[in-house]
Amino acid sequence: MKQLRERVLRSTSLFVLTGAGSAESGLPTFRGAGGVWRTHRVEDLASPEGFARDPALVWGWYNERRNAHAAAVPSAAHFALAELESRHRDFTLATQNVDSLHLRAGSRNLIELHGQLREARCTGCAARRPLDEPLPLDAIEHECGGRWRPDIVWFGEPLPPQAWQRAIEAAARADVLLVVGTSGMVHPAASIATRFAPQAYVIEINPETTALSEQVDASVRARASDVLPELLTPA
Ligand code: APR
Repeated sequence: MKQLRERVLRSTSLFVLTGAGSAESGLPTFRGAGGVWRTHRVEDLASPEGFARDPALVWGWYNERRNAHAAAVPSAAHFALAELESRHRDFTLATQNVDSLHLRAGSRNLIELHGQLREARCTGCAARRPLDEPLPLDAIEHECGGRWRPDIVWFGEPLPPQAWQRAIEAAARADVLLVVGTSGMVHPAASIATRFAPQAYVIEINPETTALSEQVDASVRARASDVLPELLTPA
């Protein structure tokens, strides 16, 4: 732990990739025990085809998730990352999460690779509307003839090009890269830790072994909230 702390605190350019391991805020992961994709069908809920087939089903689910996110509280891991950012000149946080918990914990240089649930966008005219409340299921149709959809990256869709470009540029200059709470199963986000940070010392933090564990420099088998605050406390 002492070595990891020194590496992180001495780093000149720190990049962090996070995933649904923010389970500590009471939100389910996707593939772990009780994970979202164990109880719901990806094809129906997180694909353009599923949305075209039954937009009300999709919005019903995203409204539930939006409410759960709003009710959740950032964990010690979220706050520790915001604090790490305040101590680093060059710090970038890229998340696969759409729950806005990093933002609510005070993270600023944040890249939401898989979108967010604070807004909806129209499929017809790219208009946007805030999602301060659940979207009424009788308001899915937009006046332009398009439909309001969650501003989320669904399976089979490309990541937002600007967000992806920002992420790989920041990863390319990182000397230390933290991979926190992700199974490393979903690409291209998972490839940031292996392909786009050639000179970085990569540290994984996850209570379980993942698809990335063999490819990183150090893999810490622990929960994010037990390790990240530790990185802040002087030795
Ligand atoms: N601390 C750190 N890691 C944790 C914790 C914790 N307290 N609790 C669980 N984890 C780890 C699990 O061991 C698992 O490896 O978090 C990981 C969650 O993995 P997934 O459920 O696969 O979530 P994620 O990797 O974020 O999924 C990537 O897939 O479904 C899509 O778009 C969705 O962004 C998501 C993407």
